[in-house]
This record gives sequence, C-alpha cells and structure tokens, in this order.
Amino acid sequence: MNRIEIGPSQEFSFGGENFVIALPVKERRLSTSDAFTIAKNEPYLRVYEELASVFSPRSILELGILQGGSYVLLDKLFSPRRMSAVDIRPQPVPQLLAYIADKEGRFVHFSASQTDRKILEDIVRNELADELDLVVDDASHTYEQTKASFEILFPLLKPGGIYAIEDWSWAHSPNYQERDAPFSKRHALSNLLFEQLMLMGSTSLISEIRVWKFLYLIRKATTVIPAPDQGQKDEGGSIFDQILNRGREWSLI
Ligand SMILES: C[S@@+](CC[C@H](N)C(=O)[O-])C[C@H]1O[C@@H](n2cnc3c(N)ncnc32)[C@H](O)[C@@H]1O
Repeated sequence: MNRIEIGPSQEFSFGGENFVIALPVKERRLSTSDAFTIAKNEPYLRVYEELASVFSPRSILELGILQGGSYVLLDKLFSPRRMSAVDIRPQPVPQLLAYIADKEGRFVHFSASQTDRKILEDIVRNELADELDLVVDDASHTYEQTKASFEILFPLLKPGGIYAIEDWSWAHSPNYQERDAPFSKRHALSNLLFEQLMLMGSTSLISEIRVWKFLYLIRKATTVIPAPDQGQKDEGGSIFDQILNRGREWSLI
C-alpha cells in the first residue's frame, strides 16, 4: 500500500511534515513554514518509498538540496541515525536549517560542490561516523560531476550500501535533442551508467544495478573479491581504472 498520499495540488504530508511537489525546478516554489518544496514527482517518491520498506541505512548523504524537501522526506522515510547534504548554492534554506536545528546527527552544507573531495570525505568521516549506507545524487546531472562524486563516495559506501543517481536519461528525452537545448554541449549522463555497468561486469564491486527511466540504484557488493591484478590500486587512481575492456576504447556521446 502507498504510504504517501498525494493531493490534487501536488501536496502531501508525511512524518508530521508537509510537502509540495514543484516541477519544473526553474519555476521554483520556495519552502515556507507551511510546507517544504520537493522537486520529485510521484514515480520518484514511489521508488524511495519501496526502498525504505526493505532497506535501513544508518547514514544518508544527499547531493543537491534545492529547497530541502527531499532532505526532509528522506529523513522521514528512512529514519537514519545520521544525515548530511551538500548544495553548490550559497543561499541556505531557512526552513531546512530550522528543521535540523533541534535534531541530532543532521547536517547541511551550502556553497559545497558535489565534486569537492575534502568536504565529502570530511562529511562521511566526521558527520556520518564512517557509516555511509545511502547516497542520493540529485545535484548537477552532468556526466563529469556525477562521476566525480561516485569516484569519491562509492569507495566510502559500506558493503551492501546503495548509491542512487537521478535523471540519468535526460540526453535521450525529446526536449534535449535541439542544438540550443539545455546541456546540448554536455556529455550525456547515460555514459556514466554504461561505465558503471562495465565496472559491474569487470569486478565484484557492484552486486546489482536497478534502472528506471528516471533514476537508478547501484548496490555495492557485500563481499569484494580482488581480481588478481586489481588488488593493489594506486591511491590516486579512479575506480573506473578497473574496467576490463579488452584494450578497446569507447567514446562518450
Ligand atoms: C534538482 S535540484 C535538487 C532537488 C532536490 N533534491 C529535491 O528533490 O527537492 C539540483 C540541486 O543541485 C544543486 N547543484 C547543482 N550542481 C551542483 C554541484 N556541482 N554540487 C552540489 N550541488 C549542485 C543545485 O544548486 C540544485 O539545488
């Protein structure tokens, strides 16, 4: 049974908090003292709702806060011990700061990029007690930055942990096909999904990738068996260096 009941004006209440679904993000509604704005429509909410019925992360890290609605909903759905989030925007969301003010183990960072290794590593170590079980990346949706976060955070994810990446398929939407469309000069984010599939095929790092049209979930394996030549990787190397591709190159679209 669905626990989140969405009303005719795209409003819903959950865990004692009110939310309004506001899409597209450009015409954004600010969070108010009455309701947080969340930029996820029903299909996304159902995926997280279903996940919460079978998965209990100790700590969550969200990339991309916007108006804070998703932070609060993830907190209410999963009830983690600890939770943190980053957003590159400098302006804090007052309602979100008020929400976390009287709660333990709840943190947010504005002016913080999803590609900032030091910030992300400090968050996982100090705020999330090195118990990172769930990452939700709803930040830039660019290939390069989404990949950079994954390279930093996937090695820090606990065995059996889940890494969610939203809106991977934008390059394949009719709205993104024209030369002047948003992101027209960007590499498709779906390149990253293909690389992660190859990583899953090449190593024992990933046990499962579940793909919907609008997001995917990567489950980290519970046991990693180092391949004969993959045991000693350079500290500075990328996790994607472990892809086995018979020496062939692939090019980004
Ligand atoms: C789609 S909105 C997030 C929506 C929010 N998670 C929700 O569901 O309500 C994307 C957010 O990511 C932030 N963002 C974009 N690029 C980023 C980056 N490189 N690092 C961190 N945040 C970024 C934007 O400022 C924006 O607030």
